[in-house]
Amino acid sequence: GIAFLDGQYLPMSQAKISVLDWGFLHSDATYDTVHVWNGSFFRLDLHLDRFFGGLEKLRMTIPFDRDGVSEILHNCVALSGHRAAYVEMLCTRGASPTFSRDPRQAVNRFMAFAVPFGSVANAEQLRRGLHVAISDKVRIPPASIDPAIKNYHWLDLVRGLYDAYDRGAETALILDFNGNVAEGPGFNVFCVKDGRLSTPAIGVLPGITRRTVFDLCAEEGFAAAAADVSVAALKGADEVFITSTAGGIMPVTVIDGVPVADGKIGAITSRLMALYWQKHD
Ligand code: PDD
Repeated sequence: GIAFLDGQYLPMSQAKISVLDWGFLHSDATYDTVHVWNGSFFRLDLHLDRFFGGLEKLRMTIPFDRDGVSEILHNCVALSGHRAAYVEMLCTRGASPTFSRDPRQAVNRFMAFAVPFGSVANAEQLRRGLHVAISDKVRIPPASIDPAIKNYHWLDLVRGLYDAYDRGAETALILDFNGNVAEGPGFNVFCVKDGRLSTPAIGVLPGITRRTVFDLCAEEGFAAAAADVSVAALKGADEVFITSTAGGIMPVTVIDGVPVADGKIGAITSRLMALYWQKHD
C-alpha cells in the first residue's frame, strides 16, 4: 500500500505519526473509507461530502479542497498499483508543539492511504452467509455526537466482537440504548420480512452502502425503511444482510447459532448483491 503524509507519498511501512497526536490520544479525528473496484472509485463524492462535513463540525482544517483530496486519493491508488483497493482519508487534531491542552493550538494532520481491498466477509462467507452473534454491548455511537461525523471509536464494537468469537460466531451486532439492534464492527444491518426491508434508524453511522441499498430498493420497487429493529425481529426475519464499503452487501444466514429462515441466502439479498456489483461496471 501507499500512504500520503506531510506532502509525501510513502510505502505504508514508512507512514508514521507522533504518539502525542490527539487522534491517537483522544480519538480526536475523523476519517472516511471508500473503495476502488476495477480501478474505479465507487461513490467518492458521497465519501468526500461526509469527510468534509466531519472536518467542518470538528473545526479541523486541511490544506486541500475536495479536488485536492480526490487527486491525492487517486495518486495513492495509482502508485499502489491496486485495481481493487480500500482507500482511507483522515484528519487528526494533531499535536500541540507546546503540549498545550487547548485544541486550537494543535496542528491538524491530514493523511490518506490505499491498501488492497479488504472485506468483512471472505469468499466462503459470501457464498454461505455470515454467522453472527448479537452481543449485549451497547453502541455509544460517535453518531450520537453528530451522525455526519465518522470517528474511530470502536471500544463497544471490539468488545462485541470478542463476545461473538467466544460464542463461535464470525462477527457481531451490538445494541442501541433501547436494546434494539444497532450496527456491527464496520457495517450496518438490514432485515427483510414479507418483502419489506428495514435497517436501524438511530445510533448508527448512516453508511453510504446502506444509502446505496435504499437507492437500489427504490429502483427495484422494494419497500425499505429506517426504523427500530428489535433482536426478535432480526431473528425472525426472512433474510438478513450487512452493508459496508468493506465488502458491499454481505449475507447473514446464522444468528446466535440459529439459521435465519431456511438458512439459505434469500432472493432479495441475492438480487441486491448482484445489482450492487453491477453498479461498479
Ligand atoms: N466502516 N458502521 C460503522 C461503525 C462503520 O465504521 C462503517 C464503515 C459502516 C458502514 O458505512 P459505509 O457503508 O459508508 O462504509 C457502518 C468503514 C468501512 C471502515 O471501517 O473503514
